[in-house]
Amino acid sequence: MRLVLLGAPGSGKGTQAVRLKEYLQVPHISTGDLLRAEVAAGSPLGLQAKEVMARGDLVSDEILLGMLKERFSREDTRAGFILDGYPRNLAQAAALDQLLAGLGQKFDAAVQLVVDNEQIIERLAGRAKAEGRADDTPESVRHRLSVYDEKTAPVADFYRQHGQLTVVNGVGALDEVFARIIEAIHPDHEVG
Ligand code: AP5
Repeated sequence: MRLVLLGAPGSGKGTQAVRLKEYLQVPHISTGDLLRAEVAAGSPLGLQAKEVMARGDLVSDEILLGMLKERFSREDTRAGFILDGYPRNLAQAAALDQLLAGLGQKFDAAVQLVVDNEQIIERLAGRAKAEGRADDTPESVRHRLSVYDEKTAPVADFYRQHGQLTVVNGVGALDEVFARIIEAIHPDHEVG
């Protein structure tokens, strides 16, 4: 199964991707995690990305595509993947199609988790206290939400127009949201 997870910051993409990875037995590719690893390692790429990420802007398409190409060149992605955090604008959506076409692949579904902004702000304020992620400050969260509306929401519209989008309510207990996703992508399977 090849899945693309879409949704605003804090909508639960990473949380559900961890569960989906176990369930589908395919790798979870989070572009945010890949970037945070570069920042933590202090690599040249990480140094370039650090400030951009902290203010909640998008890192350049070129850097992202390079990272993604490297990740997709690895053997473990052949059987499938859960892509979390990419594409984030229409240019990235086109780049993903091209990258997959080059590998003779297509994704099976784009799942958009929908959560209202009030709940997102509450979730990310909770995470800011618990984990202190650099981009979970109130200003950065506000900015990330506006970047999502301006740049990433059009990707969901694009996939909708092409009949590739499945919208899932992301509000509720983790198990409930997970069951909704499975139902959406795999209606014949019981969630165990
Ligand atoms: P990224 O890491 O992708 O961050 P994001 O999209 O802002 O997403 P989050 O990790 O904040 O939220 P999530 O939807 O994964 O929710 P989560 O499960 O964590 O990107 C970070 C930055 O990297 C970007 O701003 C950009 O700078 C850069 N970047 C990444 N990809 C890029 C790209 N393609 N192009 C350019 N730049 C890129 O949950 C959030 C919180 O809510 C957690 O505390 C969780 O425990 C809680 N929670 C989850 N589900 C529930 C629930 N059902 N009920 C209650 N709480 C819940």
